[in-house]
Amino acid sequence: MTAELSPIDKAKYAAARRSVDFVENGMKLGLGTGSTAAWMVRCLAEKVKAEGISVTCVATSKRTADLARDLGLTVVGMDDVKWLDLTIDGADEFDPNLNLIKGGGAALLQEKIVATASDRMIVIADAAKEVAQLGAFPLPVEVIPFGWQTTKALIEETLYSLDVLNREVTLRTHRGKPLKTDESHYILDLNLRRIGNPRQLALVLNQIPGVVENGLFIDICDVVVIGNGDGRVTVRDINSGRIEDGTVNLADSGNIFADLGD
Ligand code: A5P
Repeated sequence: MTAELSPIDKAKYAAARRSVDFVENGMKLGLGTGSTAAWMVRCLAEKVKAEGISVTCVATSKRTADLARDLGLTVVGMDDVKWLDLTIDGADEFDPNLNLIKGGGAALLQEKIVATASDRMIVIADAAKEVAQLGAFPLPVEVIPFGWQTTKALIEETLYSLDVLNREVTLRTHRGKPLKTDESHYILDLNLRRIGNPRQLALVLNQIPGVVENGLFIDICDVVVIGNGDGRVTVRDINSGRIEDGTVNLADSGNIFADLGD
């Protein structure tokens, strides 16, 4: 089955597989959203079964919750646990300080709440997500539908005083209609090309009425697990400065690939 997968999927799988090594019996876990996070949920379910351990999960989207439950994992609400040991999630970009752009899958609000309420956040990504400076990936900003065009205009005006290379803001749509998040909000994508000061931008955006949250994750991520299409993985810990290289055996992945539905 692995031969049918693209190198990028193998890279995502490798990162996901390595990340579940950090999971221990009894942990309360945050489960991210997106294609890489979906690999991780599958690897986690396999680990839980194989090792007979018990974990309690909080999902960052309805689709992740559905997948996790389908695979037999215990999923509870955020308010049932209030705090988590570990969150594992994907990212759209990460920089050398492990600051992130997230929200390509429109789940940034729950993702930020869950990651912030975790002792540790691990990002899993293929090597292409690593950038010297954030901003090539359009920055998602979640806004309230009421007056969203006014909010968009305020964001555009605000961007003129900030260190960015481009200032194009578009409403994310799905089948010709505004895409709605799990909380029924809209997403504005900010095509900025380069973000000179992500910390400042994150703070300023959240001051604008109508903005619920932005997809910049600053000082939230502790560890990145970077996967490659040949199974090589690098684990980088921003707190300890430790970098560890390893390999994931892609041939071990038969079960997971065999019943891959999404
Ligand atoms: C979901 O809203 C996002 O933050 C995802 O974590 C991010 O888009 C990465 O997705 P992939 O793993 O599908 O690239």
